[in-house]
Amino acid sequence: MTYTVTPNCDNCKYTDCVEVCPVEAFHEGPTMLYINPETCIDCNACVEECPVEAIYADVDVPEKWASYTALNEEKCEEYPVIEEAKDPLPTAKTLEELQAAEG
Ligand code: SF4
Ligand code: F3S
Repeated sequence: MTYTVTPNCDNCKYTDCVEVCPVEAFHEGPTMLYINPETCIDCNACVEECPVEAIYADVDVPEKWASYTALNEEKCEEYPVIEEAKDPLPTAKTLEELQAAEG
């Protein structure tokens, strides 16, 4: 098992998740974060922290984002670990805005 960051993180990067992860499992790409399945200890702490509900246990990832679990693993090989929380991107949206855009 692992945890997966899904597209609600894309162009947001609130990074509240980084703050609570006990093992530095998050890697930072230009527009979103990814969870390294090799590092994640499945503690579940990050799920509640994300203000846009971008994180799911791999078994709970909505079908439309099923490919993101493999994508997280792949991108973690490419991008560095993020050790500290930082300001969100200027393009960050609220959960309500994201849900409205999804329709
Ligand atoms: Fe880190 Fe726990 Fe989230 Fe895994 S489930 S990424 S260990 S906070
Ligand atoms: Fe992304 Fe949510 Fe973390 S927006 S950076 S997964 S707190």
